[in-house]
Amino acid sequence: MQKPTSIDAVQSLLAGQDYVCGRALGTVTYLALTLGRPLFLEGEAGTGKTEIAKALARALGRRLIRLQCYEGLDAASAVYEWNFTGQMIAIRAAEASGGVDRSHLKDELFTQEFLIERPLLQAMRPQPGGAPVLLIDEIDRTDEPFEAFLLEALSDFQVTIPELGTIHAPEPPIVILTSNRTREVHDALKRRCLYHWVDYPTFDREIEILQARAPEAAEVLSREIVAFVQRLRTEDLFKKPGVAETIDWAKCLLALDVISLSPEVIADTLGAILKYQDDIAKLQGSEAKRLLDEVRAGLEPA
Ligand SMILES: Nc1ncnc2c1ncn2[C@@H]1O[C@H](COP(=O)(O)OP(=O)(O)OP(=O)(O)O)[C@@H](O)[C@H]1O
Ligand SMILES: [Mg+2]
Repeated sequence: MQKPTSIDAVQSLLAGQDYVCGRALGTVTYLALTLGRPLFLEGEAGTGKTEIAKALARALGRRLIRLQCYEGLDAASAVYEWNFTGQMIAIRAAEASGGVDRSHLKDELFTQEFLIERPLLQAMRPQPGGAPVLLIDEIDRTDEPFEAFLLEALSDFQVTIPELGTIHAPEPPIVILTSNRTREVHDALKRRCLYHWVDYPTFDREIEILQARAPEAAEVLSREIVAFVQRLRTEDLFKKPGVAETIDWAKCLLALDVISLSPEVIADTLGAILKYQDDIAKLQGSEAKRLLDEVRAGLEPA
């Protein structure tokens, strides 16, 4: 499938995958696709950063290649490594079958056959449906040397393997980087990318997301859920609930046949939206009721 030719087209393409994309995110995504620039998405947890890469890949019929970042991630896990076991077996087999021609052995061992391709190298390879979507997820978890390495790979879209030569992407992959901002990512890497801060959605947008992801929830309940979660986000919590938690909570309430929130139901299901005991403790006693009353007063009749 061809890349979308307008911001509206991006939004409706993503809507087709049940991904609700506001105008600002739609614009930066459209520009990233059109200009062939990596898209850097930073924001709170559970706000749809990873999901947009998945939705985009599905919508465009592209392969999704994901590089999950973690501390200590190195080139062997991100780009390629040699299959040492396979190489050893090949050497033994050559020895067993008689004369080992040492001059040729090296050429035979460092070939495509023994190359294990990791996400960055896979993303340079042509794919049947067009260039893949390369998701470099949670880049803030890696360390600076890896970031510098990425910077290079993303600027030329090529990888050099000393024994094989340089592999160049015939068509650059669609690159999406995400970060939870547990640390600042280096300016040089950000400069290569188009940047967008993914914030918590507005009330109306979160209702739209809930309708897309948990369509069984009735309107009254959806509005209560979203209003309550949005109200919670204004509290001083250790970990505020993201959109993922809103959806989870709605699914829990549906499974319990709840049609409207009550302080008791909230207390029983709080674990779906708050994941720290200190945060949960803050809503104990009459606090859940107080917040619910406040939320109800603010909701106009649907
Ligand atoms: N705009 C949206 N449209 C539809 N679903 C959404 C949207 N935003 C979030 N979601 C839902 O929330 C879930 C979590 O989103 P996602 O995993 O992309 O969050 P994230 O920003 O990557 O979070 P983290 O920083 O924790 O990795 C998704 O599986 C999806 O169901
Ligand atoms: Mg994510």
